[in-house]
Amino acid sequence: MSTPHTGRVRAAVVAGLGSWLPPRVVGNDELAGRIDTSDEWIRTRTGIRRRHVVDPAMPTSRLAVEAGSRALESAGVPDVDVVILATATPDRRCPATAPLVAHRLGLTGRPAFDVSAVCTGFLYALATGAGMIGSGAVERVLVIGADAFSTIVDPLERSTAVVFGDGAGAVVLRAGDPEEPGALGPFVLGSDGSLADLITIRAGGSEHPTVEQPASRPDSYFAMRGQETFALAVARMEEASRSALAKAGWKPGQVDRLVCHQANLRILQAISRRLDVPQERLVVHLDLAGNTAAASIPLALDHGLSTGELTPGARVLLTAFGGGATWGATTLTWPELKR
Ligand code: UT7
Repeated sequence: MSTPHTGRVRAAVVAGLGSWLPPRVVGNDELAGRIDTSDEWIRTRTGIRRRHVVDPAMPTSRLAVEAGSRALESAGVPDVDVVILATATPDRRCPATAPLVAHRLGLTGRPAFDVSAVCTGFLYALATGAGMIGSGAVERVLVIGADAFSTIVDPLERSTAVVFGDGAGAVVLRAGDPEEPGALGPFVLGSDGSLADLITIRAGGSEHPTVEQPASRPDSYFAMRGQETFALAVARMEEASRSALAKAGWKPGQVDRLVCHQANLRILQAISRRLDVPQERLVVHLDLAGNTAAASIPLALDHGLSTGELTPGARVLLTAFGGGATWGATTLTWPELKR
């Protein structure tokens, strides 16, 4: 799917940004004390140094509320017309988590729903919110990406346990002009359900119900075919980025900041090489938080804002790949934002 940029009267403009990481930090050495891995392997193969993880009584909704309230504060608004939560780790399989998040943010009564596209979830949710604004249905949207993958990965499975971390990030979108800073450019989104087994939890859905079966069965855990995912992530993010750039009328060399889904430093570097965007323009946050799934792009944006890497006027390219398989990209010129 792609949306034409030209001719759109109302654009969705990024007006606020916030993020939150749970306080508990797990370094590579702590993992190496528990499973057969090493700080050196994790750093050189992924770029990750540490990740934050939730405590047992901290569901995804808590992460989402913390990030959402910071985004509302950054936008200087107490209210929005709709709350969209991207997550693959909802508090419960049913109902969606977004209504609870909206309620805890003092937004009871507002429409609120979850978007499920795993690590591409934030871009899908952003496109959904932008579409609602573009159609004239709403003026302001809170888009949150929040995930607690530590609750679904097998803590003893080294290829996934070392990669993922928990966290949340959020933006407030408001109706505005397509030419103003912060206006989201055209979206390029895609999916390929023939790859449903690439990144998956097999049990627990309607296909393999786990009712009255032990929750500890191995197919209840998250599983990922790592190498294949790596290659597809690079290919699809490159393609989606090229399409989004072409639709925005930008050349790759004009990209000031490249914000990729923070899956693996080697993936980010491969994309920057293929697009011919210098590596210094990559916003990198995964060393501090690992792969936070739907939260990774807004967390990277908030990190880039705090470090001064994202400055008003910078041309920013966002791209993601995730389970489904799903992928996407969009562009924006960085606006003036309060933290
Ligand atoms: O978020 C959605 C998108 N996700 C991604 O894009 C993730 C993409 N995939 C990756 O980032 C990488 O594939 C991983 C980080 C998951 C794995 O790294 P890799 O370099 O692809 O490793 P591999 O799976 O090819 O395994 C190479 C070796 C194997 O050992 P042998 O068979 O060669 O003896 C693994 O058992 O590395 C071993 N290995 C580990 N060794 C130490 C796998 N995980 C670990 C580990 N520590 N944590």
